[in-house]
Amino acid sequence: MEYNVQPSKKSTGRRSFLRKGLAVGGAGAIGAALVVKGFPALAAHGSSSLTQGDVAILRVLAALETIETDLWQQYNELGGIQDNEIPGVLGGSGNAAYTKALQNLDMDMPQYIHDNTDDEFSHFTFLNAYLVSKGAEQVNLDQFRTLPSSQATGARQIGRLTNLMQLTVDTSWWTRYRSDAKNPDFGDTFPQAVPDLAEGQHPAIPRSDADTTSTDHIQAIANTAAFHFGFIEENGTSLYPALAQRVTNREVLRILLSIGPSETMHFQVWHDKAGAAVSPPFNVKDPQKPDLVFPDLSAANDDFKANLIMPEPTIFLSRTFPKVSIIRPTETEGAAMGAFNGFAADGLFRGQSPAFFAFLRELAEQADAAQHGG
Ligand SMILES: [Fe+2]
Ligand SMILES: [Fe+2]
Repeated sequence: MEYNVQPSKKSTGRRSFLRKGLAVGGAGAIGAALVVKGFPALAAHGSSSLTQGDVAILRVLAALETIETDLWQQYNELGGIQDNEIPGVLGGSGNAAYTKALQNLDMDMPQYIHDNTDDEFSHFTFLNAYLVSKGAEQVNLDQFRTLPSSQATGARQIGRLTNLMQLTVDTSWWTRYRSDAKNPDFGDTFPQAVPDLAEGQHPAIPRSDADTTSTDHIQAIANTAAFHFGFIEENGTSLYPALAQRVTNREVLRILLSIGPSETMHFQVWHDKAGAAVSPPFNVKDPQKPDLVFPDLSAANDDFKANLIMPEPTIFLSRTFPKVSIIRPTETEGAAMGAFNGFAADGLFRGQSPAFFAFLRELAEQADAAQHGG
């Protein structure tokens, strides 16, 4: 496996490590630090050390955060606030029809999309900088930015990592958090909030300006996005606590425990916003896709009702315990591969190269092999 690292930054990190290593531990410490596969046992900062497993967990998170950033960037170019806080956005026009449809769900959608994008940038940038500070390799997916951009007004014409134009959106996160008797960690499955989105392929951004001429059609695209936002951030919400259970270094644990809940804050917002996509009058029928229906869940039963957005207490660890309000799932076994496979099943990687899948799978496998204390 060949990692695509940025040599200049990596060597800077190594030099900086060597300087600090000499200062605190002398030459012997440096020798001990440079272990197999470039994963140092001794850290650059203080006396804390990263295990190979810690590095693998940070690397898969850096990769998945880079992927998240790529997709949020596309949403932001078309439906977010255009400012210079996010690289490459200043001067962007946005897409008026798409933005309007998103604002039908909530007037503040452009702000939330912008801020979620900003957060994802910070997640992968921080994780990579931390890896470099420890003499470990950062993750750079630039070679895989090969997928086409939307042709709609507002989208930059650059290579993308993700495809938001042919999604198959799992909307079962909606019912998973409403159930008071089931938990995915017990093998339970959950019905779809919008069954039509979980089959076939659906754009979550306008593919071209032709997608913006019918108000019901662009509303259906915005509604698809609203459920996709929840899917993405729900994934991160589970991934961090799942992987944290196998971290060894306390500072790395602190990183996971500090970034993870920001994913949950995103998820909670999107969970609320998606409610408007399944409530009148914006639970539209798409005239161009008569088989895509957004049901009216505004007054549905408790397993579906739109405003029941707080996690319902449910079974956890053992059925003998009292029900508890929790993130679900948090099973640590296979968590990284599960997140990657979830993104793949979502259609995010339609059109990606075999090399991309191989690279990501290897990162996930390495992270899933990490053992606490190992
Ligand atoms: Fe993130
Ligand atoms: Fe996220």
